[in-house]
Amino acid sequence: MMIEPVVDIHLDGAWIDQALREDVAQGLTNQPKELPPKWFYDDRGSELFDQITRLPEYYPTRREREILEREVDVIAERSGADTVVELGSGTSEKTRIVLDALAATGWLRRYVPFDNSEATLRTAAAELAEAYKGLAVHGVVGDFEHHLSHIPEGGCRLMMLLGGTIGNFPPAARKDFLAAVADAMVPGDTFLLGFDLVKEHDRLIAAYDDPDGVTAEFNRNVLSVINRRLDADFDLDQFEHEARFDSDQEWIEMWLRSSRPQRVTIGGLGMTVDFDRDERMRTEISAKFRPENIGPELASVGLAMERLWTDAREDYALTLSRMVG
Ligand code: SAH
Ligand code: AVI
Repeated sequence: MMIEPVVDIHLDGAWIDQALREDVAQGLTNQPKELPPKWFYDDRGSELFDQITRLPEYYPTRREREILEREVDVIAERSGADTVVELGSGTSEKTRIVLDALAATGWLRRYVPFDNSEATLRTAAAELAEAYKGLAVHGVVGDFEHHLSHIPEGGCRLMMLLGGTIGNFPPAARKDFLAAVADAMVPGDTFLLGFDLVKEHDRLIAAYDDPDGVTAEFNRNVLSVINRRLDADFDLDQFEHEARFDSDQEWIEMWLRSSRPQRVTIGGLGMTVDFDRDERMRTEISAKFRPENIGPELASVGLAMERLWTDAREDYALTLSRMVG
């Protein structure tokens, strides 16, 4: 029988506006100017990200699916999970591979998608509750940096962070995030983490600068979010998308470059911001990893890595680790 999904909301309009005000006030007075990537994902941004995952140049989603399809029985067996908690669940598309394998074991009881994009989460929750009869879907609309402690307890849990989302945290924030994930786990819970690997720079750049301009539109969408929520007047046509690879940090950076000198008014903050011609504002980092560095990072928060798999081209990797007692 279908069980109606339950969705807990920790991000209401007032919370979002206040958090956005703080990030914009701080980020636009930094040198260089900067905005956190979490603000890409309003309804339109989530839809654009979904389009990105289907672009021929954007390999991570396909590589991750390849590994999941190949290793899912081992993942299911080793996790022994009756509950899947997915952080940054988005459309929950690849999730079905894992849910199918756990359903086949007879253990699967509950799916907990966690995301800051309410509409995307609600749609995914409804579709999964419909597709998996008897599955209790308990969604949590929250922010990684504030609400991980609200993840429902109980059961034997497989936590997942897929898509390479771990790469979008700057290193210090990544450490704090992993520590908070570990804090939300109990001994025996497992953690499935997907991350993109360092590779030829031209392939990396192509994945973040597609010829159809979908990634450019995704990048500029953060300006629409600020216009709408904070009564600002960013002219999206006056900002160019740029993707670069920083070889020292081994991360992709997305920037928006002002194509002329311009003044932007942010009514909700009572603030004006000046941009020089060609001034760049950083909107995202997407770190690329070396497999040998992941185990120690996980171990530093009490997670023991048990498996590491890559796709056949070694573009992308998944690890399964366990919270130790
Ligand atoms: N897991 C999916 C989606 C990855 S896109 C996949 O593999 O394709 C990253 C997801 O994380 C988006 O759905 C976005 O809404 C969510 N997200 C980004 N920053 C977040 C934050 N600070 N808190 C909660 N969710 C966040
Ligand atoms: C969600 N995240 C892992 C994507 C990435 O590849 O860093 C977001 C993205 N940015 C541009 N394209 C996709």
